[in-house]
Amino acid sequence: MKVAFGLVGAMGIAALALPAVAAPDGAALFARCAACHTKTGAGVPGAYPPLGADFRALAAKPAGRRYIALAVLRGLSGPLTVEGKPYRGVMPAQVLDDASAAAVLNHVGTQIAKTGPAFKAFTDKEVAGYRASGAALSSADVAKLHEGAGGK
Ligand code: HEC
Repeated sequence: MKVAFGLVGAMGIAALALPAVAAPDGAALFARCAACHTKTGAGVPGAYPPLGADFRALAAKPAGRRYIALAVLRGLSGPLTVEGKPYRGVMPAQVLDDASAAAVLNHVGTQIAKTGPAFKAFTDKEVAGYRASGAALSSADVAKLHEGAGGK
């Protein structure tokens, strides 16, 4: 009895002490985006687009949300125009599970992209849907989704 209780007790403590099931840290994940888009998300004109007004405008529309999620999951290779500047670069697909992709997009939407319409958080389930529906798209196909998706 004593042993059994000890085990259960220890398991309880282990479960409490392990925050492994906690939501992924969007701020920490953003470090990989910052390597190109810069720490503030301002980007580099002509090379790495800003994660700003265009992002927030896109995130306010269903087609735009699908585009930004797929840019992260499938990669992106333009041409595309963001906030009046042309880009013809290549963003490699980012290896992120649904929860991590949602967390990093939500970090961008709330902490990096500061102008534009109110930001509605991405859920893991929403990202999973885009991943499934976009599984056959190339990075060039994803870039074609930008036009008409409601961006700036
Ligand atoms: C290796 C560099 C690189 C990394 C890392 C990177 N990106 Fe990009 N990203 C780009 C480039 C380049 C483009 C523009 C591609 C083009 O010209 O077609 C872009 C475009 C985008 C766009 C489309 C912007 C718009 O307004 O249409 C989004 C959204 C985006 N990136 C988000 C992210 C997020 C979020 C991360 C981190 C999880 C990330 N990127 C990591 C290089 C990168």
